[in-house]
Amino acid sequence: MIDELPDNEVKYFTKHIKKNYGYDFENYAISSLKRRLVRILSLYQLQSLEKLSEQIQKNKLDIHEVVRQITVNTTEFFRDPTTWQFIRSEVLPHLIHKPRIDIWHTACSTGEEVITMAILLAEANLLDKTYFYATDINENVLEIAKKAEYHVRNWDLLMENYNAYQPNYPIERYCVKHSDKFFFHKSLTQNVKYEKFDLVNDIHTQQYDVIFCRNVLIYFNQQLQNEVVSKLANCTKPKSYLVIGSKETIMWCKAAERYNVLSHKEKVYQLK
Ligand SMILES: C[S@@+](CC[C@H](N)C(=O)[O-])C[C@H]1O[C@@H](n2cnc3c(N)ncnc32)[C@H](O)[C@@H]1O
Repeated sequence: MIDELPDNEVKYFTKHIKKNYGYDFENYAISSLKRRLVRILSLYQLQSLEKLSEQIQKNKLDIHEVVRQITVNTTEFFRDPTTWQFIRSEVLPHLIHKPRIDIWHTACSTGEEVITMAILLAEANLLDKTYFYATDINENVLEIAKKAEYHVRNWDLLMENYNAYQPNYPIERYCVKHSDKFFFHKSLTQNVKYEKFDLVNDIHTQQYDVIFCRNVLIYFNQQLQNEVVSKLANCTKPKSYLVIGSKETIMWCKAAERYNVLSHKEKVYQLK
Protein backbone atom coordinates (compact mmCIF):
# COMPACT_ATOMS: atom_id res chain seq x y z
CA MET A 1 0.00 0.00 0.00
CA ILE A 2 1.26 3.49 -0.99
CA ASP A 3 1.39 5.97 1.86
CA GLU A 4 3.28 8.88 0.31
CA LEU A 5 3.19 10.37 -3.18
CA PRO A 6 5.97 12.57 -4.58
CA ASP A 7 4.92 16.11 -5.57
CA ASN A 8 6.08 15.66 -9.16
CA GLU A 9 3.89 12.55 -9.63
CA VAL A 10 0.87 14.46 -8.34
CA LYS A 11 1.67 17.40 -10.62
CA TYR A 12 2.02 15.12 -13.63
CA PHE A 13 -1.31 13.44 -12.82
CA THR A 14 -3.24 16.72 -12.37
CA LYS A 15 -1.79 18.07 -15.65
CA HIS A 16 -2.92 14.92 -17.44
CA ILE A 17 -6.45 15.12 -15.98
CA LYS A 18 -6.73 18.80 -16.85
CA LYS A 19 -5.52 18.29 -20.43
CA ASN A 20 -7.71 15.28 -21.17
CA TYR A 21 -10.86 15.80 -19.09
CA GLY A 22 -10.93 19.52 -18.21
CA TYR A 23 -10.95 19.02 -14.43
CA ASP A 24 -8.33 21.33 -12.92
CA PHE A 25 -6.91 20.18 -9.58
CA GLU A 26 -3.52 21.85 -10.18
CA ASN A 27 -4.14 24.51 -7.55
CA TYR A 28 -5.80 22.34 -4.94
CA ALA A 29 -3.95 22.29 -1.60
CA ILE A 30 -1.30 19.64 -2.15
CA SER A 31 -1.42 17.86 1.21
CA SER A 32 -5.18 17.13 1.20
CA LEU A 33 -5.08 16.29 -2.52
CA LYS A 34 -2.30 13.75 -1.85
CA ARG A 35 -4.33 12.17 0.96
CA ARG A 36 -7.31 11.75 -1.36
CA LEU A 37 -5.17 10.28 -4.14
CA VAL A 38 -3.51 7.80 -1.76
CA ARG A 39 -6.98 6.73 -0.67
CA ILE A 40 -8.11 6.28 -4.28
CA LEU A 41 -5.06 4.16 -5.12
CA SER A 42 -5.74 1.96 -2.14
CA LEU A 43 -9.46 1.71 -2.99
CA TYR A 44 -8.75 0.51 -6.53
CA GLN A 45 -5.65 -1.42 -5.45
CA LEU A 46 -3.38 0.45 -7.83
CA GLN A 47 0.35 1.00 -7.32
CA SER A 48 0.80 4.46 -8.86
CA LEU A 49 -0.94 7.52 -10.28
CA GLU A 50 0.33 6.45 -13.69
CA LYS A 51 -1.71 3.25 -13.34
CA LEU A 52 -4.71 5.32 -12.26
CA SER A 53 -4.39 7.51 -15.39
CA GLU A 54 -4.10 4.39 -17.49
CA GLN A 55 -7.28 2.88 -16.02
CA ILE A 56 -9.18 6.12 -16.69
CA GLN A 57 -7.82 6.32 -20.23
CA LYS A 58 -8.89 2.75 -20.97
CA ASN A 59 -12.35 3.53 -19.54
CA LYS A 60 -11.87 0.90 -16.85
CA LEU A 61 -12.49 3.66 -14.32
CA ASP A 62 -15.00 6.45 -14.81
CA ILE A 63 -13.39 9.90 -14.59
CA HIS A 64 -16.51 11.29 -12.86
CA GLU A 65 -16.24 8.62 -10.20
CA VAL A 66 -12.56 9.49 -9.68
CA VAL A 67 -13.49 13.20 -9.41
CA ARG A 68 -16.11 12.22 -6.85
CA GLN A 69 -13.41 10.46 -4.85
CA ILE A 70 -11.03 13.43 -5.09
CA THR A 71 -13.57 15.98 -3.88
CA VAL A 72 -14.75 15.78 -0.28
CA ASN A 73 -18.55 15.91 -0.08
CA THR A 74 -19.08 15.88 3.68
CA THR A 75 -21.90 18.19 4.67
CA GLU A 76 -24.61 18.61 7.32
CA PHE A 77 -28.01 20.23 7.80
CA PHE A 78 -27.56 23.37 9.93
CA ARG A 79 -23.79 22.84 9.91
CA ASP A 80 -22.29 25.26 12.49
CA PRO A 81 -25.68 26.20 14.01
CA THR A 82 -24.52 29.60 15.33
CA THR A 83 -23.75 30.69 11.76
CA TRP A 84 -27.40 30.09 10.85
CA GLN A 85 -28.52 32.01 13.95
CA PHE A 86 -26.30 34.88 12.78
CA ILE A 87 -27.74 34.75 9.25
CA ARG A 88 -31.26 34.76 10.70
CA SER A 89 -30.68 37.78 12.92
CA GLU A 90 -28.16 39.84 10.92
CA VAL A 91 -28.70 39.01 7.25
CA LEU A 92 -32.37 38.14 6.67
CA PRO A 93 -33.73 41.46 8.02
CA HIS A 94 -31.83 43.22 5.20
CA LEU A 95 -33.47 41.05 2.56
CA ILE A 96 -37.08 41.65 3.62
CA HIS A 97 -37.69 44.69 1.42
CA LYS A 98 -36.12 43.28 -1.73
CA PRO A 99 -38.64 42.39 -4.46
CA ARG A 100 -36.58 39.29 -5.29
CA ILE A 101 -33.80 37.46 -3.44
CA ASP A 102 -31.06 35.58 -5.32
CA ILE A 103 -28.87 33.07 -3.54
CA TRP A 104 -25.95 31.03 -4.83
CA HIS A 105 -24.71 27.92 -3.04
CA THR A 106 -21.41 27.44 -4.88
CA ALA A 107 -20.43 24.01 -3.52
CA CYS A 108 -23.75 22.61 -2.39
CA SER A 109 -22.75 18.95 -2.25
CA THR A 110 -25.86 16.81 -1.52
CA GLY A 111 -28.06 19.83 -0.80
CA GLU A 112 -28.24 20.02 3.00
CA GLU A 113 -26.98 23.63 3.02
CA VAL A 114 -29.63 24.68 0.47
CA ILE A 115 -32.45 23.09 2.47
CA THR A 116 -31.14 24.72 5.65
CA MET A 117 -31.26 28.17 4.02
CA ALA A 118 -34.70 27.42 2.54
CA ILE A 119 -36.01 26.63 6.04
CA LEU A 120 -34.63 29.93 7.39
CA LEU A 121 -36.27 31.83 4.52
CA ALA A 122 -39.57 29.96 4.92
CA GLU A 123 -39.67 30.89 8.61
CA ALA A 124 -39.05 34.54 7.71
CA ASN A 125 -41.78 34.40 5.02
CA LEU A 126 -39.20 35.13 2.35
CA LEU A 127 -39.05 31.81 0.55
CA ASP A 128 -41.60 32.55 -2.18
CA LYS A 129 -39.56 35.42 -3.61
CA THR A 130 -36.21 33.60 -3.33
CA TYR A 131 -34.41 31.97 -6.26
CA PHE A 132 -31.53 29.61 -5.56
CA TYR A 133 -28.69 28.61 -7.83
CA ALA A 134 -27.14 25.50 -6.28
CA THR A 135 -23.98 24.21 -7.90
CA ASP A 136 -21.16 21.76 -7.43
CA ILE A 137 -18.37 20.30 -9.54
CA ASN A 138 -19.66 16.80 -8.83
CA GLU A 139 -22.74 15.69 -10.78
CA ASN A 140 -23.41 12.68 -8.55
CA VAL A 141 -23.99 14.82 -5.46
CA LEU A 142 -26.29 17.12 -7.44
CA GLU A 143 -28.49 14.14 -8.32
CA ILE A 144 -28.89 13.41 -4.59
CA ALA A 145 -29.54 17.10 -3.85
CA LYS A 146 -32.31 17.25 -6.47
CA LYS A 147 -34.20 14.42 -4.76
CA ALA A 148 -34.06 16.08 -1.31
CA GLU A 149 -34.37 12.68 0.35
CA TYR A 150 -31.85 11.45 2.87
CA HIS A 151 -31.03 8.26 4.71
CA VAL A 152 -32.13 8.08 8.35
CA ARG A 153 -28.50 7.63 9.37
CA ASN A 154 -28.28 11.44 8.94
CA TRP A 155 -31.24 12.06 11.24
CA ASP A 156 -29.43 12.28 14.60
CA LEU A 157 -26.96 14.85 13.33
CA LEU A 158 -29.80 16.85 11.78
CA MET A 159 -31.62 16.84 15.13
CA GLU A 160 -28.48 17.78 17.07
CA ASN A 161 -27.69 20.74 14.80
CA TYR A 162 -31.30 21.82 14.43
CA ASN A 163 -31.91 21.78 18.19
CA ALA A 164 -28.74 23.82 18.68
CA TYR A 165 -30.09 26.29 16.11
CA GLN A 166 -33.58 26.44 17.61
CA PRO A 167 -34.88 24.05 20.24
CA ASN A 168 -38.58 23.28 20.75
CA TYR A 169 -39.61 23.78 17.14
CA PRO A 170 -40.08 20.43 15.46
CA ILE A 171 -38.16 19.80 12.24
CA GLU A 172 -41.00 17.43 11.26
CA ARG A 173 -42.80 20.56 10.01
CA TYR A 174 -40.48 20.39 7.01
CA CYS A 175 -39.98 16.71 6.32
CA VAL A 176 -41.52 13.28 6.64
CA LYS A 177 -39.84 10.08 7.67
CA HIS A 178 -40.70 7.00 5.70
CA SER A 179 -38.98 3.64 6.09
CA ASP A 180 -35.20 4.29 6.11
CA LYS A 181 -35.46 7.75 4.51
CA PHE A 182 -36.65 11.23 5.28
CA PHE A 183 -38.03 13.56 2.60
CA PHE A 184 -38.14 17.34 2.70
CA HIS A 185 -41.26 19.06 1.41
CA LYS A 186 -40.90 19.93 -2.26
CA SER A 187 -42.09 23.49 -1.57
CA LEU A 188 -38.71 24.18 0.08
CA THR A 189 -36.76 23.50 -3.10
CA GLN A 190 -39.25 24.51 -5.79
CA ASN A 191 -37.16 27.57 -6.76
CA VAL A 192 -33.81 25.81 -6.73
CA LYS A 193 -31.88 25.37 -9.96
CA TYR A 194 -29.21 22.69 -9.54
CA GLU A 195 -26.36 22.77 -12.02
CA LYS A 196 -22.82 21.55 -12.44
CA PHE A 197 -20.40 24.44 -11.95
CA ASP A 198 -16.65 24.30 -11.50
CA LEU A 199 -15.41 27.19 -9.37
CA VAL A 200 -11.97 26.88 -10.96
CA ASN A 201 -12.91 26.92 -14.65
CA ASP A 202 -16.43 28.21 -15.07
CA ILE A 203 -17.48 31.83 -15.34
CA HIS A 204 -20.72 33.26 -14.04
CA THR A 205 -21.99 36.80 -14.32
CA GLN A 206 -25.33 36.87 -12.52
CA GLN A 207 -25.53 38.94 -9.30
CA TYR A 208 -26.57 37.50 -5.94
CA ASP A 209 -27.77 38.80 -2.59
CA VAL A 210 -26.08 36.00 -0.67
CA ILE A 211 -23.31 33.66 -1.83
CA PHE A 212 -22.39 30.59 0.17
CA CYS A 213 -18.90 29.23 -0.47
CA ARG A 214 -18.53 27.05 2.61
CA ASN A 215 -15.94 24.36 3.21
CA VAL A 216 -14.54 24.28 -0.29
CA LEU A 217 -11.92 27.08 -0.23
CA ILE A 218 -10.07 24.96 2.31
CA TYR A 219 -9.23 22.46 -0.46
CA PHE A 220 -7.66 25.15 -2.66
CA ASN A 221 -4.17 26.67 -2.40
CA GLN A 222 -3.88 30.41 -1.66
CA GLN A 223 -3.58 31.43 -5.31
CA LEU A 224 -6.79 29.60 -6.20
CA GLN A 225 -8.64 30.89 -3.12
CA ASN A 226 -7.68 34.38 -4.24
CA GLU A 227 -8.99 33.84 -7.77
CA VAL A 228 -12.24 32.23 -6.63
CA VAL A 229 -13.04 34.90 -4.02
CA SER A 230 -12.47 37.63 -6.67
CA LYS A 231 -14.82 35.81 -9.03
CA LEU A 232 -17.48 35.63 -6.31
CA ALA A 233 -17.08 39.31 -5.39
CA ASN A 234 -17.95 40.12 -9.00
CA CYS A 235 -21.20 38.15 -8.65
CA THR A 236 -22.34 39.88 -5.48
CA LYS A 237 -24.78 42.79 -5.57
CA PRO A 238 -23.62 45.89 -3.63
CA LYS A 239 -24.04 45.43 0.14
CA SER A 240 -24.70 41.74 -0.33
CA TYR A 241 -23.25 38.83 1.60
CA LEU A 242 -20.60 36.15 1.35
CA VAL A 243 -20.58 33.22 3.79
CA ILE A 244 -17.58 30.87 3.97
CA GLY A 245 -16.73 27.90 6.19
CA SER A 246 -15.83 28.20 9.86
CA LYS A 247 -12.21 27.13 9.29
CA GLU A 248 -11.72 29.33 6.23
CA THR A 249 -10.70 32.94 5.74
CA ILE A 250 -10.62 35.43 2.89
CA MET A 251 -8.25 37.76 4.75
CA TRP A 252 -5.26 37.09 2.52
CA CYS A 253 -7.30 37.39 -0.67
CA LYS A 254 -7.08 40.56 -2.76
CA ALA A 255 -10.89 40.82 -2.81
CA ALA A 256 -10.98 41.00 1.02
CA GLU A 257 -10.61 44.80 0.73
CA ARG A 258 -13.98 44.87 -1.02
CA TYR A 259 -15.74 43.34 1.99
CA ASN A 260 -16.60 44.39 5.53
CA VAL A 261 -16.32 41.61 8.09
CA LEU A 262 -19.73 41.19 9.74
CA SER A 263 -18.58 38.32 11.94
CA HIS A 264 -15.06 36.90 12.22
CA LYS A 265 -16.46 33.89 14.06
CA GLU A 266 -19.34 33.07 11.72
CA LYS A 267 -17.35 34.01 8.61
CA VAL A 268 -19.98 36.31 7.19
CA TYR A 269 -18.81 39.22 5.00
CA GLN A 270 -20.67 42.07 3.34
CA LEU A 271 -19.62 43.73 0.09
CA LYS A 272 -18.86 47.42 0.71
C1 LIG B 1 -16.99 19.60 2.03
S1 LIG B 1 -18.22 19.88 0.81
C2 LIG B 1 -19.02 21.33 1.45
C3 LIG B 1 -20.51 21.27 1.28
C4 LIG B 1 -21.28 22.45 1.91
N1 LIG B 1 -20.95 23.69 1.27
C5 LIG B 1 -21.02 22.52 3.40
O1 LIG B 1 -20.32 23.44 3.84
O2 LIG B 1 -21.48 21.66 4.14
C6 LIG B 1 -17.22 20.53 -0.52
C7 LIG B 1 -17.92 20.50 -1.87
O3 LIG B 1 -17.14 21.27 -2.78
C8 LIG B 1 -17.24 20.67 -4.05
N2 LIG B 1 -16.12 21.13 -4.89
C9 LIG B 1 -14.81 20.77 -4.85
N3 LIG B 1 -14.12 21.41 -5.80
C10 LIG B 1 -15.02 22.20 -6.46
C11 LIG B 1 -14.91 23.10 -7.55
N4 LIG B 1 -13.76 23.31 -8.18
N5 LIG B 1 -16.03 23.75 -7.96
C12 LIG B 1 -17.23 23.53 -7.34
N6 LIG B 1 -17.39 22.70 -6.32
C13 LIG B 1 -16.29 22.03 -5.87
C14 LIG B 1 -17.19 19.17 -3.74
O4 LIG B 1 -17.71 18.40 -4.79
C15 LIG B 1 -18.03 19.11 -2.46
O5 LIG B 1 -19.37 18.79 -2.73
